[in-house]
Amino acid sequence: MTTSTAPSASGTTDVVLEADGLTKHFPVRKRGRELLSRKVRAVRAVEDVTLRLHRGRVTALVGESGSGKSTVARLLAQLYPQTGGTIKLHGEAVSDAASGKRFRAYSKRVQMIFQDPFASLNPVHTVRYHLTRALKIHGNAGKSATEQEAALTHLLTRVQLTPPERYIDKFPHELSGGQRQRVAIARALGADPEVLLADEPVSMLDVSIRLGVLNLLKDLKERLHLAILYITHDIASARYFADETYVMYAGRVVEGGESEAVTQRPAHPYTQLLIESAPDPDRPAAQEKDGGTGEPPSLINPPEGCRFNPRCPYAMKVCAEKVPPRFAIPADSGDGDSTAHFAACWLYGDGLSEADKAKLREPEEAL
Ligand SMILES: Nc1ncnc2c1ncn2[C@@H]1O[C@H](COP(=O)(O)OP(=O)(O)O)[C@@H](O)[C@H]1O
Ligand code: SF4
Ligand SMILES: [Mg+2]
Repeated sequence: MTTSTAPSASGTTDVVLEADGLTKHFPVRKRGRELLSRKVRAVRAVEDVTLRLHRGRVTALVGESGSGKSTVARLLAQLYPQTGGTIKLHGEAVSDAASGKRFRAYSKRVQMIFQDPFASLNPVHTVRYHLTRALKIHGNAGKSATEQEAALTHLLTRVQLTPPERYIDKFPHELSGGQRQRVAIARALGADPEVLLADEPVSMLDVSIRLGVLNLLKDLKERLHLAILYITHDIASARYFADETYVMYAGRVVEGGESEAVTQRPAHPYTQLLIESAPDPDRPAAQEKDGGTGEPPSLINPPEGCRFNPRCPYAMKVCAEKVPPRFAIPADSGDGDSTAHFAACWLYGDGLSEADKAKLREPEEAL
């Protein structure tokens, strides 16, 4: 059974931001003999991505480097125009918000946090400058100096940089990596947004301070009911931190659902591989697969059909011919919402008997 629309793990109607069939192709400059050809070459970075972000929920987007995660975030933030598909905010299409006033109105509601807080803060300006500017741009600085000061104090307190006076006049280089990322988060909150798009927000931070920043994002989700997109290459952190998880491979979403289901009962062979090769403190090191997850394919000439087929130990004829749609994965107990968990993989298609599927799950050679 294919799922008709992008399944919502929560089953709720509080969708804030949604993407349907989102696609982004980056044109590639032609060289040599290609100049004579009419064919347009492009990096097919994001292909037909459908996802929903819910109020008060964290949705993780997981995948290896180059799988298109940042491009999805930038498309959702309207920093790039999309090649295809639609983006809706509270059900209203926003695909042409890209200029001037409309972009400002959109970015007030949808804010982005980047991987490197040092690069995203201007080194010659203080915390006060960064936060005041954000408050002013989005009309949240109040009417008087007192109100503005109160708004600044409030922002710093919200990201747990307390007492605020210790941080307010500091320059970025006077702060630790974790503190800088908290300032970047405070700046995003200065817009009073509904959605935070966090692109690998802790991957450049020391391991020891990552959890603190993730817990802060969790706190914001709970207190401010923000819809948060948490991008990561670390599927273990998605399990801990996200309510829902989508897995991307080579520009496409291959699996999604409640984080618990996706990480504990991964259905797609790529997700299984990702989990097997992730470091896990509860598993002896010897059991971890070495050699990583192999090479991702070229996105200029991606494999036909399922993009994972050249690396998949279960690949069948159909896999190299047709793109697999999303198939619902029934919950373990049988009484769960079967639309919650899906995998875009022919192993879960209707045409295969249980015996066929069992055979297919016994790969002839290990990865
Ligand atoms: N501005 C761009 N121009 C051309 N190719 C791009 C651009 N941005 C990203 N890409 C390509 O798109 C693919 C996906 O990149 P990205 O979204 O950054 O992946 P991820 O964030 O998962 O590492 C990569 O092959 C990358 O080289
Ligand atoms: S569709 Fe085919 S190639 Fe792709 S993951 Fe499933 S079995 Fe493997
Ligand atoms: Mg990225």
